[in-house]
Amino acid sequence: MKSLSNSKLDATIIDWPVHMQRAIDLAESVWTATPNPRVGCVLTKDGEVVGEGWHSAAGQAHAEIAALHHAGEKANAATAFVSLEPCAHTGRTGPCSEALIHAGVARVVIATLDTNPQVAGKGVLQLEQAGIEVCHLADFDQQARAVNPGYFKRLEQGLPYVRMKLAMSLDGRTALANGESKWITSAAARSDVQRLRASVSAVITGINTVLTDDPSLNVRREDLVENSEVLEANSGGLNRQPLRVVVDSQLRTPGTARIVTCDGEVKIYTKDAKRTGKNIASNVEIVGVASSAGGVNLRSVLESLASDFACNEVMIEAGSTLSGAFIAAGLVDELVVYIAPKILGSDARPLLELAGLQSLAHSIEFTIGDVRQVGDDIRVTLKAKRDYGKE
Ligand SMILES: NC(=O)c1ccc[n+]([C@@H]2O[C@H](COP(=O)([O-])OP(=O)(O)OC[C@H]3O[C@@H](n4cnc5c(N)ncnc54)[C@H](OP(=O)(O)O)[C@@H]3O)[C@@H](O)[C@H]2O)c1
Repeated sequence: MKSLSNSKLDATIIDWPVHMQRAIDLAESVWTATPNPRVGCVLTKDGEVVGEGWHSAAGQAHAEIAALHHAGEKANAATAFVSLEPCAHTGRTGPCSEALIHAGVARVVIATLDTNPQVAGKGVLQLEQAGIEVCHLADFDQQARAVNPGYFKRLEQGLPYVRMKLAMSLDGRTALANGESKWITSAAARSDVQRLRASVSAVITGINTVLTDDPSLNVRREDLVENSEVLEANSGGLNRQPLRVVVDSQLRTPGTARIVTCDGEVKIYTKDAKRTGKNIASNVEIVGVASSAGGVNLRSVLESLASDFACNEVMIEAGSTLSGAFIAAGLVDELVVYIAPKILGSDARPLLELAGLQSLAHSIEFTIGDVRQVGDDIRVTLKAKRDYGKE
């Protein structure tokens, strides 16, 4: 496989970055294809786009198959731009490498290799053995991986990508002293959170949030449709609820809780491994893992979500106790913080229960990725610095 950088493309292939960018944009516009990666594909012939496709959900056509279907006979002798190496194995659908060979595609350009051991270079090998030229557009590698942070992290580290949503007042408070916290932020911010939920495999909360707020933590379609950022692949693609996860050492989740009674599967993580099994309702499974000082061992929860339930990306929407514990354990990759322009005062509860930091040298650092206004609030997206979480 030839690896090319954008600056080395000759005049005949100078438009390759445009087509690869489009393939990545198509991948990015999928909410989630969990447990599969988001993938986009563009087919071109004589400089014209003849087919486009994306993988919208597990069990549905892969991006290459959708694009081949779109192109029909024009796929013969076309160039395929794919945001991820084509698969070479039969899962719920057949191998994409074979379909591309069968359609007579002349060349395949990929943005990054798939580290899934079932693929890992085998897709490229099969295409090359069939006489198809395969090129890697190296400048798109990081961007293509960033479309699927959880897929790659699960395969490479056995953990999902962990995003934490926090909503706070200007003075960094999340709930009044009596626990009241509903609607600190605006309706627009809450609708924006729906978009985040639609993109993850699982939403994680703590038992106290379930007992205090009784949230559903599901995705409500009407809120998404109201959101102007809905893209083409997304517009019809929401066909699942994220797994709802409660961290609950004493098994106090009531059978009447909204999180249990609304659609979708619920996993309750407890610290007693013997309690594993069905409980309180048919959609609820208890999963026992190791314990730790604060209750349930949070790393074990994430490892189980990755290995037992193939979760790629998860979002924590919990109170200050569980959120603080996840951060203290070095398990968070990204924060999405909504800041409401109001002050709750020093009696109100802090953003995180996170005691024991003795000096600035021990502060936990993040880098700002994005800042924007959402309704009346500000949304800040931050990435954990690389050394966070490493001993
Ligand atoms: N502003 C926001 O973004 C936001 C979001 C969600 C909730 N809230 C508010 O937060 C408040 C609830 O917060 P909270 O801090 O009391 O509860 P929480 O963080 O939702 O849940 C904490 C509980 O999780 C359980 N847990 C099990 N293992 C744990 C571990 N390793 N580390 C830490 N906790 C563990 C513990 O109960 P067991 O020992 O019984 O297992 C613990 O008391 C509510 O008022 C809610 O409205 C705000």
